[in-house]
Amino acid sequence: MSAMVTSALQLIQSTSPSKRQRLRHVVERKGEKSMDEFASEVRGLLEAPLQVEQSLDMSTRLQEEYREKLNASDISMLPSFQHTLPTGDERGDFLGLDVGGSTFRIALIRLGAKSNGEDGMQVRRIRSFPINKAIRDLQGQAFFDWMAERIGEMLAEYNHINGTRDARLLMGLAWSFPVEQTSPRSGRLLAMGKGFKATYGVEGQDLSELVMRSCRTRGLNVEMRAIVNDGAATLLSQAYRDPSTRMSLILGTGMNAAVFLPVKALSSGKFGERPDSWHAAAKHVLVNTELSMFGKQVWPVTRWDEELNAKHMLPDFQPLEYLVTGRYLGEIVRLILVEAITTAGMFNGEMPSRLEEDYALDTRILAAFQGDNTATLTKAKSAFLRAHTMFAPPQLRELQFIRDISQLVAQRAAVYLATALHALWTLRTTAEGLEPGEASHVTIACDGTIVEKYPDFRSSCQRHLDELCVLSGASKGAVTLEMAPESSIFGAAVAVCCLEDTSEGTRVGFAAHVEQPQHPW
Ligand code: GLC
Repeated sequence: MSAMVTSALQLIQSTSPSKRQRLRHVVERKGEKSMDEFASEVRGLLEAPLQVEQSLDMSTRLQEEYREKLNASDISMLPSFQHTLPTGDERGDFLGLDVGGSTFRIALIRLGAKSNGEDGMQVRRIRSFPINKAIRDLQGQAFFDWMAERIGEMLAEYNHINGTRDARLLMGLAWSFPVEQTSPRSGRLLAMGKGFKATYGVEGQDLSELVMRSCRTRGLNVEMRAIVNDGAATLLSQAYRDPSTRMSLILGTGMNAAVFLPVKALSSGKFGERPDSWHAAAKHVLVNTELSMFGKQVWPVTRWDEELNAKHMLPDFQPLEYLVTGRYLGEIVRLILVEAITTAGMFNGEMPSRLEEDYALDTRILAAFQGDNTATLTKAKSAFLRAHTMFAPPQLRELQFIRDISQLVAQRAAVYLATALHALWTLRTTAEGLEPGEASHVTIACDGTIVEKYPDFRSSCQRHLDELCVLSGASKGAVTLEMAPESSIFGAAVAVCCLEDTSEGTRVGFAAHVEQPQHPW
């Protein structure tokens, strides 16, 4: 028995029962690995797949998988009805709705044509409603009733401020779940994930009708004009501002990407029932890739990723999501820490409170470690100890270990993401009949807490994307990641006015769709 284990046993005997419980891992240590050995093993495993040549090879294999799903798949590479991008000249007042994983937001958006010297996009009013467990548990129509009540409150506020009695507003909805589009303004409700029960009893029904039924019951003077996935909304929103936008990336709790592709890149079967007029007009189409579902056979994984996947409610369902999003980065690091504590003597074998619970380590704590530039890591240490109390204070080298693995796990995520985006960009370039070196500059519109706030994440992803572009014959900066703030909700409004409604032969938008207020918001 090592001296460390002997002294730990003595410590346990001299402490209270609750402390004993927390220190039990000292005697359960499975091996005699040192922290240094363990740290270098973790580093080796996480760094092994990060070489750019390897990423290029993974990108090639991903492109094959993308092509397969563009040919046939009901759950990924889903074409929308959007076949034109905004010009930036669209105008009007619209109600933007954004149903995310944890918030429902409603905003009155004013789009003012830039060419008239107006201010592009403005949020005139916005309200945010947390979606807690009670709301996620609402089943079927009850969830849409909850949405309609919030819409009603916003309309009442609008009428009150403007002195109107019953203004009619057109709505666009950004939906952060898969949807099978059946018309520009609607789609069939598909399984929602993220812990929602709204689909219970109504899966496969018309999403627009579900929302509108609840709105009609309450006598609300609104009309649903566009439904788009949040990834597609982000692309539309940024395209309104920047005409080089052809792709988008969402990276927060969940992840996704959208891409504007030539229609011919998809098989005809993917378009379902659409009027001939749509096919006659459409040269390109905005595609919701559901990128999180790709790469199961491509991404190199470690034993901690395998453990996470095996314990997941939906193993293998979203392999890329499980490696890169806010929900999982903390969990991967937690699994590594638990192993370090139980097998390599980290924290002298003491398990901090709650650290053994699944998903207990918040990704914000990883960000705190990576963002702490003090030599003593004081700020990060307090963030960690606030969430996970300990009897003995952690040592500096242990805090440095947490910082290092947070950095490695996030760096791997940035590299995998850059690889998936490079594959999508290459596929788009090839579908346009161009070589990588011939393509004009493409902007990827980005939204989500990780890409926006995790220290160094976006720059690290951009660096790798640049290296991949250069290696595949394009120039550095051929593709750039740009933040698109508030893009889901803006995109919902933009979607309303850049839809060519071929079923009615009219183009909607281009005008204010509300009674002209005397005192504009
Ligand atoms: C999930 C959903 C997807 C959504 C993404 C970002 O991966 O499947 O539809 O776009 O999260 O919110």
